[in-house]
Amino acid sequence: MKVFLTGGTGFIGQPLTLALLKRGWDVCALVRRPESREAQALARLGATLVQGDVTDRASLAAPMRGAGVVINNAGWYALGIGGKEAEAQMQAINVDGARHVLETALDAGVPRVVHVSSIVAWGDTGLTVRDETYTRQIPPSSPYERTKTEAHALAETLQKQGAPVMLACPGSVHGPGDHATLGDLIRLYVRGLHPPVGMFAGYGRAVVHVDDCAEGIAAVAEKGGLGESYILSGGNATYREIYAIVNETPGGMRVRAYLPDFMSKPFCWAAEPVERWLRLPITFSAEMAQGATSHYFFSGAKAERDLGIRFRDVRRIFLDTLAEERRRAHKAR
Ligand SMILES: NC(=O)c1ccc[n+]([C@@H]2O[C@H](COP(=O)([O-])OP(=O)(O)OC[C@H]3O[C@@H](n4cnc5c(N)ncnc54)[C@H](OP(=O)(O)O)[C@@H]3O)[C@@H](O)[C@H]2O)c1
Repeated sequence: MKVFLTGGTGFIGQPLTLALLKRGWDVCALVRRPESREAQALARLGATLVQGDVTDRASLAAPMRGAGVVINNAGWYALGIGGKEAEAQMQAINVDGARHVLETALDAGVPRVVHVSSIVAWGDTGLTVRDETYTRQIPPSSPYERTKTEAHALAETLQKQGAPVMLACPGSVHGPGDHATLGDLIRLYVRGLHPPVGMFAGYGRAVVHVDDCAEGIAAVAEKGGLGESYILSGGNATYREIYAIVNETPGGMRVRAYLPDFMSKPFCWAAEPVERWLRLPITFSAEMAQGATSHYFFSGAKAERDLGIRFRDVRRIFLDTLAEERRRAHKAR
C-alpha cells in the first residue's frame, strides 16, 4: 500500500517513516528540500521523495494519487516567534497547509486520512486527567496553540461530515533530538551544564516517547476507526517529577531548587528580547512561560485499548532519552 506522508523529515517524521516502512508500505514523503540531510536519510530508509510544500496546494494532488493512506504530519512548532509575519507563516503551514492536505486527499478519494494534531489543541486541563471528549475551556496561549486548535477543529468538521479522517494527538513528545525547551535542557544536563535550579515545578503535561508516538500514528493509520481521535501519551508528569528522574542519572549539578513563578515568568519575559537581539534560538519566551504554567493532563488509554499499542511510562521515556542524549554527547567529544 502507498502512504503519502508530510513532515517526514522532522523529529517525529523520521521514526514515523520507519514505522510505516516496517509495515511493508511504500512511503511517498513530501519534502521541501530533497537535497537536505534529513530528506536524504528518508530516501536511504527506502522512502520515495517528492518535492512539495503544504502551503502550495498544487504540489499535493499528483503525488497523492493511488495512496491508501495520507498522513499530514507537517507543522511548525515554535514559541516566541514574534511578529505578525511569522504568525501568518505559522497559520499558512499549520492551518492552511492542513486544509490543503486533508481536502486534496478527500477529493482524490483516499480512504484513510490521518491528521497529526496535538493535546494543546484542547488546552489547559487543570489537574484532572482528560480524554478525547474534552473541550477547550480557555483561549490558546500562543500562535502555535491557536493554529493547532484551528487545524484540529477543521479536521473535526470534516469528521462530522462523514469524511474518513482520523486525529492522532500526541502529548509532549520527548526523545533524542527533541528540539523543544525540555530537549535543550536535557542536552545541557548530560553535558554537565544545567544549572541546579529548575522552573515551573508544579505544572506538567502528558508525555510520550518519540518512537512510541511514531508507532501510535502508524497504528492510527493502520487500524484507527474512521472519524475517531486518539491521544498518544505514556502518562502525565510535573516538571518536578521529570527532574526527579533526570537527577537519578549522571550529569553535572542536580536540580534541587525551583524558582517561584513570580520570578520564572519575568525571567522568561526578559530572556526573550535578549535571545532575539543575540540571534539565539528562542528557548525562554513569554509564550513558553504561559504554556509552562498550564496543565495538559491527558490519558492515552483509548489508543492503547483500541489500537493494541503500549506506550512506555514517564520514567522510561526520560531514562531512555537521557541515555541516548548522553551517548550522543560522548560521541561528539
Ligand atoms: N514535538 C512535539 O512535542 C509535538 C507534540 C504534539 C504534536 N506535534 C505535531 O507533530 C507534527 C510533527 O512535529 P515535529 O515535532 O516532528 O516537528 P519538526 O521536527 O519541526 O518537523 C516538522 C516537519 O514539518 C515539515 N514542514 C514544515 N513546514 C512545511 C511546509 N510548508 N511544507 C511541507 N512540510 C513542512 C518540516 O519539513 P522541513 O524538513 O522542510 O523543515 C518537518 O518535516 C507537527 O504537526 C506538530 O505540531 C508535535
